[in-house]
Amino acid sequence: MADTVTFRLNDKNVTVPKGWTVMQAAKQEKVDIPHFCWHPGLSVAGVCRFCMVHVQGARKLEIACNLQATEGMVVRTDTPEVKEAHKWGLEFHLINHPLDCPVCDQAGECGLQDFYMEVGKYPSQMTRPKVLKPKAVDLGPRLILDTERCILCSRCVRFEEEVTKTNALGIFDRGDRAIIGTYGEEKIAHNYQENLVDICPVGAFTSKKFRFKQRVWFLQEKSTICPGCSTGCKIQVHARTDRRTYYRVKPQTDEAVNGFWMCDKGRDTITHLNRESRLPQAQMMIEGKKQTVPVPQALNSLQRAIAAAGAQHTALLVSAHYTVEEYQAFFDYFCTQLGVKTIYQWRGDKEDRDAFDGILWRGDENPNTAGLLASLSQIQGRKVEARNELVACVAQDPKVLIALCPEVPFTSTWFQGDLAKLEGISHVSLWTCRYEATEAAGITSWIPMKGFAEKTGHFLNYQGAKRELEEAFPSAAASALSVVEAVQQLALPQPSVTL
Ligand code: SF4
Ligand code: SF4
Ligand code: FES
Repeated sequence: MADTVTFRLNDKNVTVPKGWTVMQAAKQEKVDIPHFCWHPGLSVAGVCRFCMVHVQGARKLEIACNLQATEGMVVRTDTPEVKEAHKWGLEFHLINHPLDCPVCDQAGECGLQDFYMEVGKYPSQMTRPKVLKPKAVDLGPRLILDTERCILCSRCVRFEEEVTKTNALGIFDRGDRAIIGTYGEEKIAHNYQENLVDICPVGAFTSKKFRFKQRVWFLQEKSTICPGCSTGCKIQVHARTDRRTYYRVKPQTDEAVNGFWMCDKGRDTITHLNRESRLPQAQMMIEGKKQTVPVPQALNSLQRAIAAAGAQHTALLVSAHYTVEEYQAFFDYFCTQLGVKTIYQWRGDKEDRDAFDGILWRGDENPNTAGLLASLSQIQGRKVEARNELVACVAQDPKVLIALCPEVPFTSTWFQGDLAKLEGISHVSLWTCRYEATEAAGITSWIPMKGFAEKTGHFLNYQGAKRELEEAFPSAAASALSVVEAVQQLALPQPSVTL
């Protein structure tokens, strides 16, 4: 039996796997069918009745999201009858929808707005006053719900049932008084709350963090990989490049790794890249005072410290937050060229590193542990110690320590605290993107680094899958370097600087 079917969609023969719906086939063929309740990551509900199509021989229009494609079927999405159905469907959804667009965060990426421009009914037939419902309902630490804006598509209810399996949401009451809500005073507390904002096709669910912060048409977006844990979800970071400010993170579809979702912890991995949190220039302790210096001067002083101590008294301290390309350049310079053999891997295990929440998040909160281990395995004669506590380094008596600081907030503060406990090291060079790192004690020089959204390269996730940091925004910190660029500068003859 054939496992594909061929049918006619508008003027084209289309072949799809058996069991696919007309909606899935239309998506594949880039034929637009207006819809609200269908979402590729959720079950079919068929409640918005908006995705009407014409099927030859059928007595009435059918909904494409629940219509299985069959051999020889003839479907049209563009007949006058279909267009009229779309117009009336939209008019029906707008009966009680408030005119909030000027103050709604969803404006600019709202299904109602977009489809009204495409298939809307001009002028509107609505004459009756709208039904008023609760606005700005606090539904959790990250969520606000405006029940007036809701079109009852039930995507959020299905997400709670099918993805998080928390069943926190339901549709209460009937008819034009029906609203989305939780049971009693319950709040949504899981680590996947903002996916509700993403899937809500209108501005009913909004994010407390993003609410009223920025109009979406001012944002540019780039694809990259979340640095929050070893799953390596594919994400988009949204920023205003004219302000060098990051505003939000959204998941990008990657069926093999994160599907359509990401966790809330991952969404918090971006604001440390904004100007106010960044280490903009290199800094050095000079005669007991912290001073801003050009990057070459800080690198020059590191080189001189290594030359004085010798490679046998120099150690590297690495966290798994940098790309494979960066580790290769780092180890190639320090280990292969200079002969450094002592390497400490800071693991940063707050949780059991094998922990898994059953959806996406993993206890190893380093995005590139597998990439770091693979890079370390290529170093000849290395002596690697992996630990959470760094104080044991002192016993090895390094005179110079070059430390690659973890980038994301929940691990970097811990790392800096540990560095402050080290004693007897004459030169600690901390490579970091974070301004707060300059508060850490015991450091000799700080080198400003680029963040994950500002460089290309790749991580290896917990399965060893390659996760490409595809595109980069310009850095908000003027002098920031990737590790590759810093090492290239170190390898150049340094200008002699008198301190
Ligand atoms: S809140 Fe949004 S996702 Fe939930 S039913 Fe209403 S419109 Fe749909
Ligand atoms: S599961 Fe991990 S990689 Fe995915 S979004 Fe959350 S923190 Fe980021
Ligand atoms: S998308 Fe088909 S009924 Fe809602």
